[in-house]
Amino acid sequence: MSKQFDVVVIGGGPGGYIAAIRAAQLGMNVACIDEWKNAAGGPAPGGTCTNVGCIPSKALLQSSEHFEHANKHFADHGISTGKVTMDVAKMVGRKDAVVKQNNDGILYLFKKNKVSFFHGRGSFVKAAEGGYEIKVAGAAEETLVAKQVIVATGSNARALPGVAFDEEHILSNDGALRIGAVPKKLGVIGSGVIGLEMGSVWRRLGADVTVLEGLPTFLGAVDEQIAKEAKKAFDKQGLKVELGVKIGEIKAGKKGVSVAYTNAKGEAASLDVDKLIVSIGRVPNTIGLNAEAVGLQLGDRGEIVVDGDCKTNLPGVWAVGDVVRGPMLAHKAEEEGVAVAERIAGQHGHVNFNTIPWVIYTSPEIAWVGRTEQQLKADGVKYKAGTFPFLANGRARALGDTTGMVKFLADAATDEILGVHIVGPMASELISEAVVAMEFKASAEDIARICHAHPSLSEATKEAALAVDKRTLNF
Ligand code: FAD
Ligand code: NAI
Repeated sequence: MSKQFDVVVIGGGPGGYIAAIRAAQLGMNVACIDEWKNAAGGPAPGGTCTNVGCIPSKALLQSSEHFEHANKHFADHGISTGKVTMDVAKMVGRKDAVVKQNNDGILYLFKKNKVSFFHGRGSFVKAAEGGYEIKVAGAAEETLVAKQVIVATGSNARALPGVAFDEEHILSNDGALRIGAVPKKLGVIGSGVIGLEMGSVWRRLGADVTVLEGLPTFLGAVDEQIAKEAKKAFDKQGLKVELGVKIGEIKAGKKGVSVAYTNAKGEAASLDVDKLIVSIGRVPNTIGLNAEAVGLQLGDRGEIVVDGDCKTNLPGVWAVGDVVRGPMLAHKAEEEGVAVAERIAGQHGHVNFNTIPWVIYTSPEIAWVGRTEQQLKADGVKYKAGTFPFLANGRARALGDTTGMVKFLADAATDEILGVHIVGPMASELISEAVVAMEFKASAEDIARICHAHPSLSEATKEAALAVDKRTLNF
């Protein structure tokens, strides 16, 4: 017997579970299918983000930052600790507990919002009367029918051609989050978001980390001035990043991994490490979805093809998050999930792609929203720039964390904020003010004239806005 729903969501990551909750809030009868299993084989909704992405990486970043503070910075505050040691198993266990709290939280939210949760793999069977027939293959097999289907099946780590992840020596994000002991030497391929975050975790814990990056520029998508400042900080910390390399043969053996590559000068080079993280981007995931059974259109990268409203080529089938075009970010997936649920309910759900913030949770943190200086130049936009260094911010001095700056880019004629770029302490939190400002089409002067608490890091934001008009007060 099939079970009838208004909406079936396939995938319970940030895109899927949030879409399911929003659709239920809007009065629809909703099911969410997710196949992720915890170590005991039970349900672990939350997707990549909760299980092997945003949440566990931030837990390890926090632990490793505490360790680095205790080792290197407590003494500045007059605190002596003796020899500081790290129990890696305990740190990883804490991370797992944080993940479980989030898995359990989502199961609770499903109950609270009356979303029916099915643990197993969801796949299209056929177009059926009243919508689509979806099979759930889990501990038990179920058949669901729904008028509206939201696909939110996420993404998987991209492997180098011919170099499979064994999660013992050659690690994806999954293995990188459960290394059992600090490796002496850690290699990372790709100096993107995962490479820098995971490289930072294991460097702080004592690993000798080398990151090999294919492109000649560091963090090409980031504002150049900000990327330069970040690179200076990483160099000082001893996180080695080699740009412009061409990866050759990779051999993994009992003793570790050997990476042959050509360096930026065109010379043959090699890197021998205990473990190698490969973080060269992610690929949309439609494995097991049986998209072909209903003729769901996929693009060249394996992504589900959608329009600006997340509509696929099939009536009543929508797709959101990492499995579609656009940045692979949890909050982007969530916004799309909410917007689709609202569109199904006949409302006007909307996602503003121009104000999606990016954050890299290294130390210093890097965060931005809107266009970079190089993008504005390429677009031929006349702009004014204002920067303010954390070195001149009282709160940053009190924290002992004065690296970096806030940078504003505003339209030369109208003063509308076009981009805000931050490298420094708590950039991840500071960027929200810029997102709100840009969402309301604020000018730099608007921010410059708003009262900011003293002493706070957010005063650097205000001062950077003042700097657009060349009238900083504290620098
Ligand atoms: P996913 O989270 O991948 O969820 C998809 C879910 O669908 C999974 O549970 C999967 O098991 C399930 N599924 C797939 N196919 C089926 C099927 N046929 N049937 C049933 N279930 C299925 N983003 C940020 O914004 N901030 C961060 O700090 C951040 N950190 C990250 C750190 C790492 C190491 C990684 C790898 C990613 C990080 N991301 C971060 C990216 C973020 O995790 C993704 O953008 C986000 O998870 C995408 O959400 P989603 O719902 O589209 O897909
Ligand atoms: P990425 O796209 O951020 O970085 C990949 C890097 O690998 C790029 O610099 C690229 O030039 C390089 N590269 C690609 N192929 C290469 C090759 N063959 N040899 C050498 N270098 C190569 O991808 P990453 O780090 O894997 O992360 C995937 C996605 O996950 C991110 O794009 C982001 O969307 C998401 N994520 C977000 C986080 C956050 O918001 N804080 C944290 C971690 C991941």
